[in-house]
Amino acid sequence: MRFSPRKKLVILVSGKGTNLDAIVHYLGKQNLSADIVGVISDRPDAYALSRAETYGLPCYVIDYATYAHPRNFQEDLSNRLQTLSPDLIVLAGFMRILSTEIVEHFYGKLINIHPSLLPKFRGLKTHERVLASGELQHGTTVHFVTPELDEGPIIAQCRLNLMPGETTESLKLRVQALEHQLYPVVIAWYVQERLKLTAQGVVFDDSLLSPQGYQYVPICYETEL
Ligand code: GRF
Repeated sequence: MRFSPRKKLVILVSGKGTNLDAIVHYLGKQNLSADIVGVISDRPDAYALSRAETYGLPCYVIDYATYAHPRNFQEDLSNRLQTLSPDLIVLAGFMRILSTEIVEHFYGKLINIHPSLLPKFRGLKTHERVLASGELQHGTTVHFVTPELDEGPIIAQCRLNLMPGETTESLKLRVQALEHQLYPVVIAWYVQERLKLTAQGVVFDDSLLSPQGYQYVPICYETEL
């Protein structure tokens, strides 16, 4: 039997870290062969860092605000990432666009979660734009990262139907609940070597996925029925 060493994960954060939380819990519950070898934040006050410290994870702050030039921030981030030498970099609410050099260096090892059903609603303020557009569905997408923002090959999506009286806040909470289910599962697929990026697209369990990715059906909790 082929021996696969434990996978090294690095998680990049800027905000609350609810996805980080979900990932840590899932890794532990599923006893996956992976370790979070670093949590990197671009801001020292990100609540995600407090969560990471509580879990005893190695934390690194590369404080964007202290850099005179973004190029130097990207260089320090790149150096830190190369030192940590991850098998997978997980963007979990990281609010900086990575340099092309970083994206190319870690091509196929870099994933992001975005709060919309890509390719619809790239960029920020997705919930507001979904409400204004009269869409009937919304959701979240996990994709490999390429140099073009929110355009990398889609791995998986999880969707919801808009409800009467939906607000930006209700959508945010409902989409995040989906993210907390979807992101850990996709990471587990990667750790189990079921997922890879090829020149043809995303391959999952030896089959090429459609451009919309795997359509993941969420577990419905009683409160959501
Ligand atoms: C998530 O909603 C994700 O879609 C977006 O940033 C948010 C991060 O939330 N990219 P958290 O910091 O994980 O709570």
